Amino acid sequence: MRIMSIVGARPNFMKIAPIAHAIEKYRTQNTGQNIEHIIIHTGQHYDERMSHSFFKQLSIPEPDINLEVGSASHGIQTGQIMQKFEPVLLAKRPEVLILVGDVNSTVACALVASKAVYNNGGPLKRPVIAHVEAGLRSFDRDMPEEINRVLTDALSDILFTTEESALTNLEKEGIPPGKIHFVGNVMIDTLIHFEEQARKLDVLKKIMSENIQCRQIGYSDSSSPASGEFPYGLVTLHRPGNVDHPDSLKPLLDCIAEIAQRVPLIFPLHPRTRNSIERFHFQAFYNAKNLIITDPLDYLGFLALLRRARLVLTDSGGIQEETTYLGVPCITLRENTERPITLSAGTNYLVGNDIPKIIRTAFAVLDGRCKKGGIPPLWDGKASERIVNILLDKSREF
Ligand code: UD1
Repeated sequence: MRIMSIVGARPNFMKIAPIAHAIEKYRTQNTGQNIEHIIIHTGQHYDERMSHSFFKQLSIPEPDINLEVGSASHGIQTGQIMQKFEPVLLAKRPEVLILVGDVNSTVACALVASKAVYNNGGPLKRPVIAHVEAGLRSFDRDMPEEINRVLTDALSDILFTTEESALTNLEKEGIPPGKIHFVGNVMIDTLIHFEEQARKLDVLKKIMSENIQCRQIGYSDSSSPASGEFPYGLVTLHRPGNVDHPDSLKPLLDCIAEIAQRVPLIFPLHPRTRNSIERFHFQAFYNAKNLIITDPLDYLGFLALLRRARLVLTDSGGIQEETTYLGVPCITLRENTERPITLSAGTNYLVGNDIPKIIRTAFAVLDGRCKKGGIPPLWDGKASERIVNILLDKSREF
């Protein structure tokens, strides 16, 4: 069986890593099944910190081909991926195409594969499209990712889900239940695999030694971050709805600066957010008291900080899940979430951009008034193995 996987943007890398490792395990176990795995990187993200560092740290095999599309508007980026991916797909002729998540690379490759036909010695066929993290819905069509999710699911033949809400959503959209498989969460597979390594890292010390503001914050090497004596929160912000317009970004930055007065906040800046801060001349924010701005962090560094954070403020999708697994309080700066299990069973709070509510929730969490949360079903480190098993079981039909 020839499997092709697509990666493009940062959140894809931690999802494809455990799948690549599970496939490799089957290859080396000599199961009698001949599996070939081809990885294609679209190049949607391309910086060392947004892409290459993840391949190295997560031991993802080097991509066989990089389409090098880079940044552009949605139409141009999606179109370029389609244009460059089609000849690659037709040349490599995989039986199965694995797509993860909801970025532009995901939907672009789904569209190409859904109309491609070729033969591998038998009759002409389309590749089987397998979507990992299917069925998540924010019901907010203003989010580019929601469009990507709905379209990719509609075009997929096998839909692997992470939580129960996904099955309901897909059934409502008319996807036959036989195509849907509840397997758990591949991103949590990666977290479980790397948690021990992250535990040993003293990233805080490194960040503090590089940041002149740490002296104002009262951090010193003897603060012993490894023992958790130095409290801090972690912030990430990159959704276009939050950062692309000054009227949405400014109140959020002011609110972050206010929460930093209570607890030091570490804020690794996404390139989109840094561009906006500079374009709107909000650089004064960088000097806010108790605020530590860094470049985007690598996977292990971020995980090390996440594990020990007193609270997390974010608009990311994946971080809502990681904090739920780790039992760290997460305040989500969005009006909706496509991951409702993190609210009902986890440690997530949905606060939108209601500034008083964000501050109230953050202070309550810091005062110790927060939900305990638990780990959702099948978030057990074995989702990727389940995925590969299902693909192998079904391979006679491909
Ligand atoms: C993309 C995904 C989003 C995901 C996010 C994670 C879509 C529609 N969006 O958003 O779902 O949560 O990735 O990061 O696919 N840039 C760099 N270096 C890079 C990549 C980007 O500097 O390696 C800058 C460029 O200025 C670019 C901007 O970041 O214009 C935004 O990148 P883009 O890939 O368009 O979208 P993201 O906001 O990263």
